[in-house]
Amino acid sequence: MQFCADRPEIVPRTPGFPFHKGVAPIFLQLQSAPIKRAHGKGEDVKLIIATIKPFKLEEVREALTDIGVRGMMVTEIKGFGAQSGHTEIYRGAEYAVNFVPKVKLEVAVTDALADQVIETITDAARTGKIGDGKIFVLDLEQALRVRTGESNDEAL
Ligand SMILES: Nc1ncnc2c1ncn2[C@@H]1O[C@H](COP(=O)(O)OP(=O)(O)OP(=O)(O)O)[C@@H](O)[C@H]1O
Ligand SMILES: [Mg+2]
Repeated sequence: MQFCADRPEIVPRTPGFPFHKGVAPIFLQLQSAPIKRAHGKGEDVKLIIATIKPFKLEEVREALTDIGVRGMMVTEIKGFGAQSGHTEIYRGAEYAVNFVPKVKLEVAVTDALADQVIETITDAARTGKIGDGKIFVLDLEQALRVRTGESNDEAL
């Protein structure tokens, strides 16, 4: 829909467009509406995101399953930290580029288990050398099991 000078009430509903005075854009109406979210039942859950050295994956996975973690996501990534990847050795060769291969783990756990998961990843992933990784902890708004509709701790 085009803006029409003699029919200012007709405006495209595109954010950022200079709306004619007095015409409340639909996206603003939606933004001011109270936000209602279904958080589901059950205990609160956290999402723990960790980057680790790829050769540590099996050790970390085993340590996590040993303490009761029942699921996780694993992604091969590239990244860099404080050294910009320059001083890290990967498979014997110094990387000329800034990105170093890492494995990213994403683990959703109950609040009660979160500290133990963080400690377990830290212990299992640590070599003491640079590039051992990072752990980020987020409050997870909701977890849901697709098959049953169970939520939060019951979905894990
Ligand atoms: N600020 C950040 N934001 C997002 N990801 C990061 C950040 N810093 C590091 N990472 C991720 O973590 C990986 C490992 O980072 P790394 O362990 O080298 O961090 P560091 O702070 O340099 O620690 P160290 O001094 O032990 O090397 C990076 O390859 C990247 O994927
Ligand atoms: Mg580093």
